[in-house]
Amino acid sequence: MRLSLVTLDLVVLLSTWLPLSSALPTSPQLTTYQERNFKTIHQIYQFTIYPRQEAIIAQATNDSIPELEPLFSPTVSGRIQEIGNFTNFRHSIEYFFGLAPRPQGSMYSAIVEAELTQFSSDCPSVAASTVNFKVALADPSKPGFGAPGTRTYTYLKQTGFWHFDEQGRVDYYDLYISALNEFATILNGADFGSKLVQLLATKQICQGAQKLCKGQNTQYQPQVGLSVGAVLSALGLNLLLDLPLVNQLGLGTLNLGELTCFAKLSVKKFGTFDKLWADTVTCRIVHLMLAEVDPDDHCPHVGPSGGGKCVEYPYYDRLYNDGPLFRDNLRFRCPGYSNIST
Ligand SMILES: *[C@@H]1O[C@H](CO)[C@@H](O)[C@H](O)[C@H]1NC(C)=O
Ligand SMILES: *[C@@H]1O[C@H](CO)[C@@H](O)[C@H](O)[C@H]1NC(C)=O
Repeated sequence: MRLSLVTLDLVVLLSTWLPLSSALPTSPQLTTYQERNFKTIHQIYQFTIYPRQEAIIAQATNDSIPELEPLFSPTVSGRIQEIGNFTNFRHSIEYFFGLAPRPQGSMYSAIVEAELTQFSSDCPSVAASTVNFKVALADPSKPGFGAPGTRTYTYLKQTGFWHFDEQGRVDYYDLYISALNEFATILNGADFGSKLVQLLATKQICQGAQKLCKGQNTQYQPQVGLSVGAVLSALGLNLLLDLPLVNQLGLGTLNLGELTCFAKLSVKKFGTFDKLWADTVTCRIVHLMLAEVDPDDHCPHVGPSGGGKCVEYPYYDRLYNDGPLFRDNLRFRCPGYSNIST
């Protein structure tokens, strides 16, 4: 009897005492802007999940896209390291949704989940986030999908800062994609360091460029008199000594426009997906994906000059030239921090 009374006392004591201790923390109430900013970023990324991006891509060249009006300001501008800057609504939308992988051709891949694994918002106008995209690497309807020992998923990480306007729409972003070159290797199941893979990728880009960029968007006018032999010798390849490589390349299947493109691009640096903002073939691979969405705007970037996008752009300007891009060098810092004396 006595014992249970003591126990009871203890329970009473504990229950009055516990809420004050840190033993059972209650989660702090989020502010409305924290919830709003989280939802905005979450919703933006949900549109990258296949097939949700298809409806957005179909409207890419429209003046307004109703689904995205609550999410992006009409004047949105941002940077994605190391892909490039996207200084208006149309280009931003094309980046966010036009580059989301689409299951097509021999390569099946698509984003199947996008989770905000890191998020913080310190004031209504700024948030930081990290998203993990879960990417399916094979067609789930194909036999063997998910069989033991086959890797059917990979992940891609994007991290950085967002700025919101008074209505809570994103008006600036500065984001970074980690290890994109390795991701591209996994996605394509090909080693982009191999010379053969590089030349085959260049050939594919040329076939794609001539197919997508037609009429006044044509980038590579057929160079009369150009021969496969001349292209190979410009690459330092010998028809007899390098016969296996030459055969695998199969340049004989290219038409004259495609061959002209190949002659111009195969002597450029192949580059890496970790630094796309350059006069390289890898930059043109990405911009060809964008040209598929919007040929008028992106065909010049696939062309021989790089159209101002696939051009060499100095290190400092790529990473630190914030003024023209964000109209404020401290765009992604909440206002109060400027008053801290350090
Ligand atoms: C926007 O694009 C869609 C799909 O291409 C089209 O059906 C629709 O008419 C367009 N809307 C406007 C206002 O241009
Ligand atoms: C965006 O990048 C291009 C190079 O691709 C550069 O010429 C331009 O100045 C940049 N724009 C801004 C606003 O930083």
